[in-house]
Amino acid sequence: MSINRRDVLTVSLASAAVVGQSAKGAAPAEAPAEADSRAEREQTDTFSAPVNLYDYEVAAKRILSGPAWEYFNGGSADEITLRRNRSALDLLQLKPKVLVDTTRIDTSRTLLGHNMAHPIILAPTSSHLLAHPDAEVATARGAASAKAIMVASTVSNRSVEDICQVATEPVWFQLYVEDDRGAVKALIGRAENAGCKALCITADNPLAYARNREERVRAQAPMLPFPNLGITAGPGGRARSRRHFNWEDLAWIQSFARTPIILKGIMNPDDADEAVRHGVAAIIVSNHGGRVLDTEPATIEVLPAVVDRVAGRIPVLFDSGIRRGTDIVKGLAHGASAVLIGRPYIYGLSVSGADGVRSVVDILRTELEGAMAMTGRTRLDEIDRSVFWKSHDYRE
Ligand code: FNR
Repeated sequence: MSINRRDVLTVSLASAAVVGQSAKGAAPAEAPAEADSRAEREQTDTFSAPVNLYDYEVAAKRILSGPAWEYFNGGSADEITLRRNRSALDLLQLKPKVLVDTTRIDTSRTLLGHNMAHPIILAPTSSHLLAHPDAEVATARGAASAKAIMVASTVSNRSVEDICQVATEPVWFQLYVEDDRGAVKALIGRAENAGCKALCITADNPLAYARNREERVRAQAPMLPFPNLGITAGPGGRARSRRHFNWEDLAWIQSFARTPIILKGIMNPDDADEAVRHGVAAIIVSNHGGRVLDTEPATIEVLPAVVDRVAGRIPVLFDSGIRRGTDIVKGLAHGASAVLIGRPYIYGLSVSGADGVRSVVDILRTELEGAMAMTGRTRLDEIDRSVFWKSHDYRE
């Protein structure tokens, strides 16, 4: 896919017309005032087609309004965990392996009965209307062409029914368990009737905690529709309380849910064990992309302990900070069955709608194949902890 300045401008203006964005995107060729991320340092005053996920981040920043950028890009508090998600992945060192026939690399995997072409899933994220006029419907189209499972957020700007209607790959429904049990039960029924194949229940976000970057621009943020909840609200759509949610509520949902339940936001081996004992189908090691409890570890640091505790009883998935194919290899090596990405595909969506979503997944998948080839792995089940150097003095 190639993206030129006119594409960027068109998307920018179309999005601005729908959601009242600023005209910031009207000058995509201008360099940002200050190069404050790795991506911006690499791509300063010229604009070329994105070749990696960081390029999409730079391109999206040029297009999005200030409030949209702060909402998508930000983390909680001092963003220590947000940064650590990346630095911990960067620090892990892979051991190359040569002279393996890598003519054929197989990235397929079966998860919860579904044959995945690759292990990359679109994480649930809210408020896609800030990124594109077709919002989550465009995301679902992108997921379809990328052959990726999409997890549709409770706080989507399009209804779960609209999303499932265009999807050709499985859609999982991400549920926030609000205190109102009647509303929760009704929403689960809607998602299951729409055709969602699993319920992904998010456990790590009972209240909004120190989202300072969002807070500073909240007054300028547009109001958005949240049809799954029947409300209009600012980005993220939080209107009702979800502080009651506990293990008994989970058991209550399990008593009537017709689809497998995946628990998202596990960062503690004890919680992982409890989840297994409650009979969930899978868990996701996630710190919400550094958007919840600041100063907790990176997910890649916690993943081995969680995988060891789960001991193969259910699949363990992992997200937060994944930007490269090598990151996927590292997650799978530590025992993850699949990975999820959040911000990168939102940036793809911002830049070129469904095509951008597909492109982000395709780039990551191509990088995964390259990383597998150079570590001498031709199938996902060949990726284990021996892919890492055991120690930093490189002795065996
Ligand atoms: C999220 N995330 C999230 N998670 C969830 O369970 N329900 C939701 O509605 C949202 N909304 C949301 C909005 C935005 C803008 C972001 C960035 C994230 C968390 C998401 O599912 C995932 O855990 C992280 O995005 C993964 O980290 P990366 O890939 O963004 O670094």
